[in-house]
Amino acid sequence: TISGLALTLAAGAAQAQDDPCGSGETIVKFSHVVAAQGHPKGEAAQLLADRVNEEMDGKLCMQVFPNSTLYDDDKVMESLLLGDVQLAAPSLSKFEAYTSKLRLYDLPFLFPTLADANHYLASDNAKDLLSVLQDEGYEGLGYISSGLKQFSANKPLVMPEDAAGLKFRVQTSDVAVAMIEALKASAQKLAFKEVYGALQQGVVDGQENSWCNTYTQKFFEVQDGITETNHQLLAYALITSQDFLDSLDDDVREQFLTIVNETLADANNKVAQQEDECRTQIANAGSEIRKLTPEQREAWVTVMKPVWDQFRNDIGADVIDAAVVMNG
Ligand code: LMR
Repeated sequence: TISGLALTLAAGAAQAQDDPCGSGETIVKFSHVVAAQGHPKGEAAQLLADRVNEEMDGKLCMQVFPNSTLYDDDKVMESLLLGDVQLAAPSLSKFEAYTSKLRLYDLPFLFPTLADANHYLASDNAKDLLSVLQDEGYEGLGYISSGLKQFSANKPLVMPEDAAGLKFRVQTSDVAVAMIEALKASAQKLAFKEVYGALQQGVVDGQENSWCNTYTQKFFEVQDGITETNHQLLAYALITSQDFLDSLDDDVREQFLTIVNETLADANNKVAQQEDECRTQIANAGSEIRKLTPEQREAWVTVMKPVWDQFRNDIGADVIDAAVVMNG
């Protein structure tokens, strides 16, 4: 009947709207764990999808799955090789199982400022480091910067001694564990999506993260305050599998990689401002932000920086020295 046909057509149109990918387009699924909005990585992922879907319409169709809705950072590595997803951007602290070279980025107080970190991430040295992932079937397409990390806990942290005896959630990074142990505290590795609950229930006492993670995941709600230590970098490697890249036609791959490079550069230019905004939002929400005097901050450096010695051989003294020399 006419009305039956109309219904079928309407249903077809609704389906087309739900599923923006046309037949013949190669689907590119990007799975990540942070908020879609108000976060440097979440927004970079969306920016990339917007550009790919507009400029490569008919060739590629990108879908973004934020907030651990598809995979956490452990599972996503395997899923990339299985072809279940094509893009992921785990933090550089999460490549422990694949390489010890990227431990460079976890060294506490390696980068004095976020600008120093971003300068290094844009360098050829940084690009070379990513090539270690090729041995495992991955391809590092570039870095997404996210900010320096701050400590928070269920009691005020001003001096490093204040952290002694507490339990901190860390990412799956042995450098982070060593750093926490240097504070005479204990470290527990937990997936990102479990952190809020673990803080709320007192499974752990504290955590360390960027302003935008602390804000968008609402960690500040279940902590006494945030201490502005700026002690470590949070940044990501945007990765894909070599199989996926090889499966693309040359012109498609070239256009895609150009869009990736431009989008990452744009995203990294905005990160400092985004982090400032997240910091302001946390303050506006009434959370205590503790600034450290230069002497107080120096005390944290004195306690945590010696962990460099434990990892110098893994990373390579030359790699570390070359990064330090680039700091402005
Ligand atoms: C974390 O686990 O704390 C972060 O790596 C999450 C993220 O992707 O920023």
